[in-house]
Amino acid sequence: WAFHAPYVIEIERLKRERNAVVLAHNYMTPEIYHGIGDIVGDSLQLAIAATEVEADVIVQCGVHFMAETSKVLNPAKTVLIPDYDAGCSLASSITAEGVAEMRRRYPGAPVVSYVNTTAEVKAASDVCCTSANALQIVEAMEGDTVIMTPDQYLARNVAAQTRKRVVWWEGSCIVHELYTAEDLRAYRAQDPGLRIIAHPECTPEVVAEADFTGSTGGIIDWVSRERPAKAMLVTECSMASNIADALPDVDFARPCNMCPYMKMITLEKVLYALHTGAGEVTVDPAVAAGARRAVERMIEISR
Ligand code: 13P
Ligand code: SF4
Repeated sequence: WAFHAPYVIEIERLKRERNAVVLAHNYMTPEIYHGIGDIVGDSLQLAIAATEVEADVIVQCGVHFMAETSKVLNPAKTVLIPDYDAGCSLASSITAEGVAEMRRRYPGAPVVSYVNTTAEVKAASDVCCTSANALQIVEAMEGDTVIMTPDQYLARNVAAQTRKRVVWWEGSCIVHELYTAEDLRAYRAQDPGLRIIAHPECTPEVVAEADFTGSTGGIIDWVSRERPAKAMLVTECSMASNIADALPDVDFARPCNMCPYMKMITLEKVLYALHTGAGEVTVDPAVAAGARRAVERMIEISR
């Protein structure tokens, strides 16, 4: 922490000077999450927070689609992303033409797109979802068939819980797809008391091994409530680091996979962005209007 202090102090000063707020995703490193995050949370919590902030500048400590979502919901505000290359394997797996192709394949079926998509893809969709509300959004759609893009595993996990016919795009998260059910069984065999908590971007086989599955915010709530003696979070590495101090009675088994995109966001880059205004996110107004409709519809349904 002593090493990070000069950055944190200067970032806090610039936040006051620029009237800026830092929205930080649960996968940020502890020095960002605890050191400079004004609002922390999962994708849904950050999207809702983005509709409510009063600051002039939003610094998005997360990946590019999250910053775009904040801009779409706040066209008049300046939104900065500390590293423009902080992408996402799901967001880059589909374009608006991919959505059109799915509509041609399944005429009349509504398209539910994960927030892990570009603004163009959101604008081409009927509604968005996050891992916190995917089942609820799918069930709110009219008709028997629902198209989900771009995460095949989130879609398969939702399909297992609904009577609707869910069809999907073949995208995946490069972090969560690395976990296997076999690995989890091996950890449990070593330690039968281990509670396994998975993110729904994992395969259905992994989810079947888990004691609980939820969004990053849902995972934090579950562990904080249940206080298992030993827990393994089957998700990005920083999750356990960010909550371990507040839960000293929980022993976190630490095998984890790192998101290389989330880890592009550093204190140094946040400082640079606040200092220079670099990394401003812009979205074409017509695209933004379409994307806003899809995100606002999601927020409305999940209230
Ligand atoms: P959450 O919506 O659960 O925060 O997930 C975002 C994400 O990118 C997970 O990989
Ligand atoms: Fe995208 Fe996966 Fe990284 Fe989340 S963890 S930002 S879904 S690549």
